[in-house]
Amino acid sequence: MPKERKLHDQFFKKAKAEGYAARSAYKLKEIQERHGLLRAGMWVLDLGCAPGSWMQVAGQIVGRPSRGRDWGNASEDGRVLGVDLQPVSIELPECCRAVVGDVFTLTAEDCLRLLGGPADVVLSDMAPNTTGDPGGDHHQSVRLCRRVLELLPMVLKPGGGLVMKVFEGLAYPDLLSETQRLFGSAKGLKPVATRQVSREMFIIAQMYQGPAAHAQRVPRDAGLAPKRPAPRPGWASGGV
Ligand SMILES: C[S@@+](CC[C@H](N)C(=O)[O-])C[C@H]1O[C@@H](n2cnc3c(N)ncnc32)[C@H](O)[C@@H]1O
Repeated sequence: MPKERKLHDQFFKKAKAEGYAARSAYKLKEIQERHGLLRAGMWVLDLGCAPGSWMQVAGQIVGRPSRGRDWGNASEDGRVLGVDLQPVSIELPECCRAVVGDVFTLTAEDCLRLLGGPADVVLSDMAPNTTGDPGGDHHQSVRLCRRVLELLPMVLKPGGGLVMKVFEGLAYPDLLSETQRLFGSAKGLKPVATRQVSREMFIIAQMYQGPAAHAQRVPRDAGLAPKRPAPRPGWASGGV
């Protein structure tokens, strides 16, 4: 068996043995080991969360009771809100909650209402349905990323972090530069659990500069005009 195939079979088996919904769990684990974006007590928005392995990983880190409280019951405890076109059917840590939704119709207000306030970290492992046409898949992937950037002014706290998957292609350098202008730092990473032949990359960005950084760059739709992030109440009820 080719070496790389063997490595990926190992991740698949490891995910099964360790109870993760997908081997993508090890991509976020590696990103976390290298960059330490997630910490206990943080609030996380996970876009493209199904089948749920990133929520499992993030929930284990942020949901750890920091002051002896139950997970997710107090506004200062960590929480993870996941959004995906597909429902999440696995059992998630108590601090996690998944809703079915499309990022192109979901508004920033929906995210704030459902999470209870702006996130400390936004994760996006979203991927379009691949067609086999690398250019087309890249274009759709960049479209998803631009939507993530468009949502940031309301959903991410200034100083916050971002992990965003993109299929590499012609527009990748521009996307990376756009992200760099919005954050104190942003760089690309291909985790070990990603196949070398895959065009998948992750942009890891830290120290979000806040809504003002978008002023001349990210097109804003009417519902996304930058406002000060709302205070953090408890979990909201309802869906999208
Ligand atoms: C690679 S999977 C995510 C895996 C997940 N991070 C995990 O660890 O379990 C990509 C996901 O992006 C979702 N997705 C693609 N387009 C989307 C959209 N417009 N809105 C919300 N989710 C989307 C897909 O439904 C799919 O579940």
